[in-house]
Amino acid sequence: MVDRIKVGLVGIGNCFSGLIQGIEYYRKNPSQEVTGIIHDKLAGYGIHDIDFVCGFDVGETKVGKPLNEAIYGYPNMVDWISKNDMPKTDAKVYESPLLDGVGIWVENRVKPISSTKTTEQIADEVKQVIKDSGVEIIVSYLPVGSDKVTEFWAQICLDTNTAFVNCIPSFIASDEKWAKKFEEKNIPCIGDDIKGQVGATIVHRTLAKLCNDRGTKIEKTYQINVGGNTDFLNMKEQDRLVSKKISKTESVQSQLNERLDDDQIYVGPSDFIPFLGNTKLMFMRIEGRQWANIPYNMEVRLEVDDKANSAGIVIDAIRLAKIALDRGIGGPIKPASAYLMKHPIEQTSDIAAKTACEKFVAGQ
Ligand SMILES: NC(=O)c1ccc[n+]([C@@H]2O[C@H](COP(=O)([O-])OP(=O)(O)OC[C@H]3O[C@@H](n4cnc5c(N)ncnc54)[C@H](O)[C@@H]3O)[C@@H](O)[C@H]2O)c1
Repeated sequence: MVDRIKVGLVGIGNCFSGLIQGIEYYRKNPSQEVTGIIHDKLAGYGIHDIDFVCGFDVGETKVGKPLNEAIYGYPNMVDWISKNDMPKTDAKVYESPLLDGVGIWVENRVKPISSTKTTEQIADEVKQVIKDSGVEIIVSYLPVGSDKVTEFWAQICLDTNTAFVNCIPSFIASDEKWAKKFEEKNIPCIGDDIKGQVGATIVHRTLAKLCNDRGTKIEKTYQINVGGNTDFLNMKEQDRLVSKKISKTESVQSQLNERLDDDQIYVGPSDFIPFLGNTKLMFMRIEGRQWANIPYNMEVRLEVDDKANSAGIVIDAIRLAKIALDRGIGGPIKPASAYLMKHPIEQTSDIAAKTACEKFVAGQ
């Protein structure tokens, strides 16, 4: 019999909705094989051993609501399990500080609650909620461009001895200064910026590595992504996008034998197409040269539900954070970060990361 894993959620958007609805889907359909990458038990922990004990958000459709209602709050759009079929929970959604504000493109969709509290007051309340509900892992799915809020939550984790799983491209686990703080307090941290199960990054990395491993020379490459949810709408704001582009571009560059010049590689979220909803389309092209300097190119189109893509990975990140807690291992959890995140503190090939992760789980 394993412990329950008590998790607090930050940013109750589509990604968390997909995670929670997915777990409920498997509960209602026990004969279905769980299709996450480490689908079976991880050191004894299965997907039903997780309790989401509280959430934090700023939106008026989320704050103050029970978690089972908040995950359906506008503008969330994941609807795999109907709202009435979702079991009720005592877990509530509490206030998070606004800090970086709501992006200009999403401000007519995400209406923050009117609050008179200072960041310090919110921090005190948050720490009390974490204590009262026994949270041992905080998972963040904040919008892109939430650098200050991410630092707020990283500090909360340090102050409350809570592990941190950072699914977004605001750098904590991969930032030397923050990584050291987590190391010094021996608190596990997994990040940054979650990879999809079969997402644009993993497909692009894998094919770029294949081209290199087959001895060809990649000359230029691009990856364009479009989608129709608030994540894509928010990413139209270039000022909020700086770290996302670094995270996605470095994830591909790290797999090449020779780095491409900046003007020979473009990797980015590129536009919002409303009717796509949570469907993400990725278009990727690699151009290079093979034997006798003869040119070749390839193009890939990927169509995928972005939320299923991320939930199938975060379910493992949570369990790996719990394993680290159980074993008293702190600081950035390098095997888990390299395997599951786009921007880990140490990039490796995905095969090497998988092997390291398996060894970590086996306690080697
Ligand atoms: N495959 C994927 O979906 C994937 C992959 C990698 C990274 N991500 C990242 O995960 C994040 C979440 O994606 P999503 O689709 O759930 O986004 P979303 O827009 O659906 O949800 C974001 C949530 O954060 C809340 N929020 C805004 N400001 C906040 C604050 N200051 N404090 C607390 N909550 C706040 C919003 O109200 C909303 O509920 C994004 O940064 C996205 O880029 C997603």
